[in-house]
Amino acid sequence: MALDSQKAVGKVLKATKLADKLELRQITVPIGVLMTQSKHIPVLGHAEGICHVFVDKDADLQMALKIVRDSKLDYPAACNAMETLLIHEELMEESSFFDDVCRMLKKHNVKIHSGPRLSRRMTFSPPLVKKMKTEYGGLECAIELVTSVEQAIEHVVNFGSGHTDVVVTRNEDTAQRFINGIDSACAFHNASSRFADGYRFGLGAEVGISTGKIHARGPVGMEGLLTTKWILHGNGHGAFDFTESGGMKFLHEPIPIVSEE
Ligand SMILES: *[C@@H]1O[C@H](CO)[C@@H](O)[C@H](O)[C@H]1NC(C)=O
Repeated sequence: MALDSQKAVGKVLKATKLADKLELRQITVPIGVLMTQSKHIPVLGHAEGICHVFVDKDADLQMALKIVRDSKLDYPAACNAMETLLIHEELMEESSFFDDVCRMLKKHNVKIHSGPRLSRRMTFSPPLVKKMKTEYGGLECAIELVTSVEQAIEHVVNFGSGHTDVVVTRNEDTAQRFINGIDSACAFHNASSRFADGYRFGLGAEVGISTGKIHARGPVGMEGLLTTKWILHGNGHGAFDFTESGGMKFLHEPIPIVSEE
């Protein structure tokens, strides 16, 4: 059925006797509206993709540049593209990372906005963000400074959308704290945010991405109360590496589950 108006979709959402599931493709109704309108049919989807890349003080900075480039530029309109780059403040004094990353982004015509802390720190900083929680969905992003992994986690929890967030660091302890601290569907270490994708995860073709947390029916045991968090450990991998020019190929083989303890 072709349903392209908010009113029509609202009507179907109320017809719970007739509809168990509606699958909406390429609609113009914002998913946030659907989520509030649908009282009985759970909505599988995500309202926003505000993805972060946190570059820690212990990051391999070449790797960080590559991950930022892939996360922002591989496909800027995608929901899993980076919208905010968080930089550990120590890198401002001890490295040229900020200049390097700005130069790289500007070379690709990315418009940069400053978070409040970056803006306070610099005399000539990029224009201040209007709202930290913004999905630019194009050649635009925000940069903000954080003083610790804890502050990065706090930022992601406050301004993210629970979609996909990345930490770049050599420090395993920092990576683990970031991964455990954020409440996002996907938490990646040293890999591009662009890997948040059904096909790339080996689920077959991408159908969608959900930031909802429960999917259970019938008698519910412990498992029905659990949700999913996708954790990815990379070593500087970007989606571009898996294109023809990148030369890498997805294997999609079953791998044994290793307990984290
Ligand atoms: C990147 O993270 C992986 C784990 O995902 C780790 O094994 C590796 O040492 C890290 N590499 C660098 C250069 O930070």
